[in-house]
Amino acid sequence: MDRLLINGGVSLQGEIRIAGAKNSALPILAATLLTYETVQVRNLPHLFDITTMLELLGCMGVRTVVDEKLNVEVNSSSIEHLSAPYDLVKTMRASILVLGPLLARYGKAEVALPGGCAIGGRPVDLHISALQSMGANIVVEEGYIKASVEGRLKGAHIFMDLVTVTGTENVMMAASLAEGQSIIENAAREPEVVDLANCLVAMGADISGQGTDTIVINGVGELHGCSYSVMPDRIETGTYLIAAAATRGHIKVKDTRPDILDSVLRKLEQVGADIKVGENWIELDMHGRRPRSVSVRTAPYPAFPTDMQAQITALNTVAKGTGSITETVFENRFMHVHEMNRMGATIKVEGNTVIVEGVNALNGAPVMATDLRASASLVIAGLVSENQTIVDRIYHIDRGYECIEEKLQSLGAKIHRVTA
Ligand code: EPU
Repeated sequence: MDRLLINGGVSLQGEIRIAGAKNSALPILAATLLTYETVQVRNLPHLFDITTMLELLGCMGVRTVVDEKLNVEVNSSSIEHLSAPYDLVKTMRASILVLGPLLARYGKAEVALPGGCAIGGRPVDLHISALQSMGANIVVEEGYIKASVEGRLKGAHIFMDLVTVTGTENVMMAASLAEGQSIIENAAREPEVVDLANCLVAMGADISGQGTDTIVINGVGELHGCSYSVMPDRIETGTYLIAAAATRGHIKVKDTRPDILDSVLRKLEQVGADIKVGENWIELDMHGRRPRSVSVRTAPYPAFPTDMQAQITALNTVAKGTGSITETVFENRFMHVHEMNRMGATIKVEGNTVIVEGVNALNGAPVMATDLRASASLVIAGLVSENQTIVDRIYHIDRGYECIEEKLQSLGAKIHRVTA
């Protein structure tokens, strides 16, 4: 199993490019099931989760052709199986995103019910009840969501009890081919939802209100092929910026979108970073200063993202002062905290809040990654540690960060991968 070896104490300096957004690319690949025509998806990130989604499409009989730049052409006219097997769903919960498209296009779908994971129970009840209100018959049997509909799905007025990103995406995709109008209230406003909506519009869908909490979809009879470029990954961007701030560094991040990172950039300014932005780049300079602690409360977009909570906690471990971090989206997203305490951090967990008292530096230790963003935070902790840190179980990191060790090496970090 691969591990990352990190010798901390280096201030990150230099420039890197940001990859396409994982959490946009996954629903966009699922959306290709909504048409028989070829959809070209560009700027796909080189990630394990993307490979899993392509494998899932492939095992349904969908043809995918990937070129050397990792642009992929998907044509679903050859589809044979309308199901997502447990073996794939258990490695990637986002497989649930094929449920809406399969049901809308083919009137039938079987998707293994995702279980809980390292960050919480993560039920999909809201996906199911929304599709039921559009006329789907859904039963959960033998660990599978078995869904079918007579004729087309019917447009419906849906109120989401909780803001759910993939729930909003599943319903938006299904509603694109439903009969009549659908309105999703309390919809997720995440930029990845907007990116999916824009791709669906490029495929001929009639969608408005994406990016607000009310999305209106007028169903159409057919969607067609298109060529679509996935937006940059805001979480990858924020992770490198936080790593640079924690190490008192100076970096420029290119091919990104500052306009969708407001909550994170404002926190980094409070930390003491000097931030400059252009249309598609962000420059962060700590001028060699130690970061100041910040307090953060995660919530759906545009608030501070839960997917950056572990990384900002890592920064607080070596910041001046005390900061509190409150997690409101997932019930169990503090697994990294115990590993950081083993590295000399002073973090107390109180319910859904952690209180972090900054220390001068952490002490490297062997640590274990438990989920994708926790792994990234342990890498940051390694970068601000004296002596060596070994991060184990980094298959989590390969799911969501493209070439993390190469990018960090190009910023001067002493990090490398070893295969045990
Ligand atoms: N929820 C329910 N019922 C549902 C759906 C959600 O109770 O039917 C709850 C969840 O348990 C959670 C909250 O609602 O407490 C929000 O979950 P959401 O559905 O928004 O999460 P998701 O769609 O499963 C996506 C991202 C996650 C990201 C969350 C929150 C993708 C593929 N995944 O998950 O990304 O943390 O939104 O922003 O888009 C990651 O990239 O590391 C990651 C975990």
